[in-house]
Amino acid sequence: MLGWLGLEKSPMFAFILKTFPSLPSIRPLTDIPRTLVAGTSLLFLGVCASAQTAAPQAPARTTYQPVFRLDGGNTTYAFGVNERGELQQLYWGGRIAATDTITPAKSALEQASFDSSYNNTPQEYAGWGAGLYMEPALKVTFADGNRDLVLHYASNKKIDDQTLDIVLKDISRAVTVTLHYQMDPESGILARSATVENKEAKPIVVEQEAAAAFALPPAHYTLNYLSGRWAGEWTLNRETIHQGQRVLESRRGTTGHQNNPWFAIGKGGAGEEGGEVWFGELAWSGNWRIAVEQDTLDAVRVTAGFNPFDFAYPLKTGEKLESPVMYAGYTRHGYGGASRTLNKFTVSHILPNGPTPKPRPVIYNSWEATEMNVTESGQERLAEKAAELGIDRFVMDDGWFGQRKTDHAGLGDWYVNKEKFPNGLKLLIDKVHSLKMDFGLWVEPEMVNPDSDLYRKHPDWVLNFPGRPRSEERTQLVLNLARPDVRAYVYGFLDKLLSENDIVFLKWDYNRNWSEPGWDQVPPNEQKKVYVEFTRNLYSILEELRKKHPKVEIESCSGGGGRVDLGILQYTDEVWPSDNTDPLDRLTQQDGFTRAYPNQIMLSWVTDSPHWQNSRATSMTYRMLVSMEGALGIGANLDKLSAEDLATIKRLTAAYHGVQKTVAQGELYRLISPTNGSEFAATEMVAPDKSQAVLFAYVHSTQEGRGFPRLELIGLDAKATYTLTSIEGKTLDGTPTEASGLWWMNHGIDLVLRGDFQASAFRLDKK
Ligand code: DGJ
Repeated sequence: MLGWLGLEKSPMFAFILKTFPSLPSIRPLTDIPRTLVAGTSLLFLGVCASAQTAAPQAPARTTYQPVFRLDGGNTTYAFGVNERGELQQLYWGGRIAATDTITPAKSALEQASFDSSYNNTPQEYAGWGAGLYMEPALKVTFADGNRDLVLHYASNKKIDDQTLDIVLKDISRAVTVTLHYQMDPESGILARSATVENKEAKPIVVEQEAAAAFALPPAHYTLNYLSGRWAGEWTLNRETIHQGQRVLESRRGTTGHQNNPWFAIGKGGAGEEGGEVWFGELAWSGNWRIAVEQDTLDAVRVTAGFNPFDFAYPLKTGEKLESPVMYAGYTRHGYGGASRTLNKFTVSHILPNGPTPKPRPVIYNSWEATEMNVTESGQERLAEKAAELGIDRFVMDDGWFGQRKTDHAGLGDWYVNKEKFPNGLKLLIDKVHSLKMDFGLWVEPEMVNPDSDLYRKHPDWVLNFPGRPRSEERTQLVLNLARPDVRAYVYGFLDKLLSENDIVFLKWDYNRNWSEPGWDQVPPNEQKKVYVEFTRNLYSILEELRKKHPKVEIESCSGGGGRVDLGILQYTDEVWPSDNTDPLDRLTQQDGFTRAYPNQIMLSWVTDSPHWQNSRATSMTYRMLVSMEGALGIGANLDKLSAEDLATIKRLTAAYHGVQKTVAQGELYRLISPTNGSEFAATEMVAPDKSQAVLFAYVHSTQEGRGFPRLELIGLDAKATYTLTSIEGKTLDGTPTEASGLWWMNHGIDLVLRGDFQASAFRLDKK
């Protein structure tokens, strides 16, 4: 009001503004009407992913404010259109009754001239415009330089009971965003993504595009996220969410070891097995960002999508840009409940062979034994020894191709090295088959060494800025997979390799991050599309290869766990979590890894002792029992192991085969987490039908004679009887070999486990 009266320049006005900064009416009105829903007729929609169908929601204040609702598992998600026409989140939490009414959206109050309603309102997908200081979901620049984007609800399309599209449109420009929602009826996990379309007569540039934004009401929250580095991935961090923003991201071209696109947010005192937890994961293997932000009113917002850093994606008239998918869920069962819900969903809905992928074969991998010194006779000898141990799959790692003797040469030249394999790969593969194992091979398709025929022929194929240095890491450069010719080359050599050889498994490696990400084949304003097109081409190669070679399985490896995310997992069957194979380090890594990803895909090798990374010496039993928590693999030098160690591997590999399905696909309970300096650790996996449970227990260094805490099991069938069998052969004084589910869950098991790096494992089978 004061602004209208022309008083804003008066000393009196300055005084009033200083004294009452929250006066709502001092902001001058803008000239653009930020008004109501564009072209909507009366629309009220109840959407329900379950058998129950919610009654249409009646509007409380106006007749043009639709409310949308999705129910699945124990979760309800609801949002609606507020009186200004913005799409606003209304509820995300425990499932409410189908008959419950959800109050239509009402924008939040303006708290002060500095805290506008536009910022305080938890929008589902906010455009950067109208003075938005919170993280925008979408930011664009129009051809005329205008950068104001205010998205209002335009229409909706119900696709089925679980799936809904909502169209938003700018208040005056022809830019639309279609928000895609799909609720999984079983887990309550919501898949959200967005498609931006330019319907303007001139091009626009998309500078930021999220898959989704989520909101949580004011409360005390704890953010959980994963961080790390090469050979030190999967550190679980827990920190109180304070005002401001916490950014989890990768600017490295791919997912990265440093942060993983996963989060979990616990409310109040949420713990491992109780309390409210919201969690989410972005399915994207290129530059990504998740911004967790507490606003000035203590509400929290999570915005996830393409990383806006160095991002610009031009859209000509009629072109679209689709975001990655963000999966998000809710549980009342603590952090353990969150990981069980998410991991079950990943196994059922993300992995290529879901919903019931076979547990992974036990592999032998030659890397730590031979590094690049692979030869036909050496590999055959290892294969013979591996077969003796009960290994299912023999994998030859780096070194078999081109002029590969060290990491200085050969990448890009995917022909078999004749010095090392005078007969090609056939003799080795036949030998492996004759030993009743199948054969897998290492490749690193997106890389090239400058010392290679490929680079000498196509120096322009790498990411680079012409005339600038090309930074090498591990003496290699990144091929620009966004280029159609590079994509064709990579697909072509892989297809040929798989067509000419009986290979059922590729370990797909990727050993550096991007630098100088130029793409001078396309006009300057198109070059930043590389961040999206590279990843899309990677996915399309994987998809096409799998279609043409359906029996081939693929491991995602990037110098360990640098490319693990739900995007790549749509096309790969397992991952290599870390180059760090020290068993004690692996215990904490496995604890962190399984927060976000299932045991099913968590490859874990047993390697030599003392360990190359930290010189720690551990027993073969301890190493085996640590790796048996995931997909067991052997990576030790079999030529050097003692007869006793070989016998231990053989015995425990056989035992592993008997419990593997439960380990891989059961419900995981972290009875004692190895994090925070705990000297003890214990995990329990329970088969989905509760017919079997597997228990692993570890100590790394007991002190002052402290005994192992009693282990009360979780998730068994209370009424059933279970027999207890030791996997590594320890006997337990005073513990029955047979008791009810109630006994194991209420009384629990007392272990005698003392010393350094000791481990025990048991299986419980329902009678
Ligand atoms: C990095 C991987 O993580 C290792 O397992 C091994 O395959 C090497 N690359 C080979 O160069």
